[in-house]
Amino acid sequence: MSSAGPPQGAAPSGGAARSAVWGGAASAMRNPQLDAHGALTHLLTLEGLPADVITGILDTAEPFVSIAEREVKKVPLLRGKAVFNLFFENSTRTRTTFEIAAKRLSADVINLNIGASSTSKGETLLDTVDNLVAMDADIFVVRHAQSGAPHLIAQHLNAHGRSHVHVVNAGDGRHAHPTQGLLDLYTIRHYKRDFRNLTVGVVGDVLHSRVARSLIHGLTTLGTPEVRAIGPKTLLPAQVEALGVRVFHDMREGLRGCDAVVMLRLQNERMKGALLPSAGEYFKHYGLTEEKLAMAKPDVIVMHPGPMNRGVEIDSAVADGARSVILPQVTFGIAVRMAVMSIIAANG
Ligand code: CP
Repeated sequence: MSSAGPPQGAAPSGGAARSAVWGGAASAMRNPQLDAHGALTHLLTLEGLPADVITGILDTAEPFVSIAEREVKKVPLLRGKAVFNLFFENSTRTRTTFEIAAKRLSADVINLNIGASSTSKGETLLDTVDNLVAMDADIFVVRHAQSGAPHLIAQHLNAHGRSHVHVVNAGDGRHAHPTQGLLDLYTIRHYKRDFRNLTVGVVGDVLHSRVARSLIHGLTTLGTPEVRAIGPKTLLPAQVEALGVRVFHDMREGLRGCDAVVMLRLQNERMKGALLPSAGEYFKHYGLTEEKLAMAKPDVIVMHPGPMNRGVEIDSAVADGARSVILPQVTFGIAVRMAVMSIIAANG
């Protein structure tokens, strides 16, 4: 999948808008997340995003973490701006932390109730977007079951002279979840400091996971020497090695010497057919227990993007144990999302 174009078979609608953007040679060459000067204007994927842009976001997030300790948890960076949360799929962590982040930046936040919106009457995604732009939207935060939907909106805005309106991908299909990837990178850097001497294990349903894809792209871009994809053959993509990972089917072998272990949720809603014998069998082989975790380094950190299936992907003793940084991940997500929105808004 190329970072310079939309994912294959992704577009829910709006072919005319797509060809208007991708018809020109110059635009076809340019990463559509970046302007002509290389500044971030949309955040659609971590794939192909330069290391200095990713590091810049993580560095910008650092001071935002301490805002939570203040009595007044606000800065005026987005005062007068309108952030529209468009969540076409369920969410607890991402939607709520985007709302908190936008409010801490002093933006006006509008959560579109998709179930009660005119999309349920047949309005297209791009018509909905055009109407919200007419209400002076500045940033769209978009989660969609279709891979490529945020990309399509960004292309549409760029093609119609509205490149001052920004799009942040909050998770599209199985394609990308860039702010989750960034908060995972932030968490790893917070506890381990330097990516360049780490071994990171990503365990479970990599096949259906936008979280895994974004994290793997981020880790490899920042120079992590060993990223491991650990799981059964049925839950790892064909040619997953092309992402720059080492493959392990034996979880204990895969966890040996890891500095960080990222557990993934079984994405049952995206599975077609039976890919697993049973939840119990999966837990026996790929569920994270204290006994399996003992194969990793003693100071290993354990991560999970949520929502967690206790007793399927992870034992409660580990999820709630001393090595778990699962809840700090959520807290760091606010600062990372503040960083992303403040950077793209400052870039015009
Ligand atoms: N990690 C994550 O995306 O969680 P939500 O689905 O609750 O947003």
